[in-house]
Amino acid sequence: MPLVTSKELLLQAQTDGYAVGAFNANNVETVKAVIEAAEEERAPVILQVSQGAIKYAGLEIATGIVRAAAQAASVPVVLHLDHGTSFLQNAQCMQVGFTSLMYDGSAEPLEKNIEISAKICEMAHACGLPVEAELGKIPKIEDYTTPAEAEELRTHTEAEQVETLRKKAGPSVEQLMADPSQAERFVKTTGIDSLAAAVGSIHGMWADIWPLRRDRIEQLRKATNLPLVCHGSSGVIRTRADAAAKGIKLRPDECTLEEGVQAGICKVNVATAVSMAFLRGTYGAFQKNPTEKDLRKILLPGLQEAKELVRGYMRLFGSSGRVGGKATGEASQVKHAE
Ligand code: G3H
Ligand code: ZN
Repeated sequence: MPLVTSKELLLQAQTDGYAVGAFNANNVETVKAVIEAAEEERAPVILQVSQGAIKYAGLEIATGIVRAAAQAASVPVVLHLDHGTSFLQNAQCMQVGFTSLMYDGSAEPLEKNIEISAKICEMAHACGLPVEAELGKIPKIEDYTTPAEAEELRTHTEAEQVETLRKKAGPSVEQLMADPSQAERFVKTTGIDSLAAAVGSIHGMWADIWPLRRDRIEQLRKATNLPLVCHGSSGVIRTRADAAAKGIKLRPDECTLEEGVQAGICKVNVATAVSMAFLRGTYGAFQKNPTEKDLRKILLPGLQEAKELVRGYMRLFGSSGRVGGKATGEASQVKHAE
């Protein structure tokens, strides 16, 4: 079916109390993994193109993969710009057919962030496109650990990893969170359609162990009444049961991803976990058969692993079963290609 805008999907999610998964489109296999999972789960879905993907594949190719896969899909799919860098980039993405934009002005002073976000909204809204913008700053794990430190940390238990990160990153992550007292003006002045609010998560984590700040999510929802977007979701602990199984103790003002959705998150961005699942699948297949000559036989297990991860997230967000009809099976054909 034709691409849809994020506005319609997110307002529906906000009304009905679930979240739409937004997964990053990095290659044909991960795009197919996401669409196949969405079709089988009957879930609306967002495929987003990051700055890394634009550098890697080029804007036209990165976009073309998503558009082609979405056309063949039997569920609504959004083509979203992830962490757009400027007014110009948002204009270019509008021109090549994105159905949802984002401006990340988190590195700018607040007034500049407001000014550029408002300008993008004016342009996008004139063409019927919604805009997401960032308030506060969602940091990345590399801001706090070197690759060598991260590698060492990963040899510890999950509970120990969290305790170490609380000391190394906790105060900074807290200080970077979106300020609810700025949120109402930010939203009203810019006219944005969804808010990428820094609510305690960290981009690019290697495992789902880190809590969100429930108090901040609730304050921002009350201040804006907009669909909230959770970035850096790969690292967020998914459920209370997961936290208990991993021995991770949540503080009273913290919550899991599942609880974050209940508190007002309507779009959940997951990139690193999909990438890691794909790598696990391909690496396992290559280890099993290092003399394989057909790359598709190595890539397909990666697709399957990514698809199961995406399926799990769709169920967690409550987006499964929100679309009527049956899977067409079109997106699955490549599984059998030789
Ligand atoms: O914008 C993309 C996301 O925030 C993805 O973050 O790689 O930590 O899942 P993640
Ligand atoms: Zn992000």
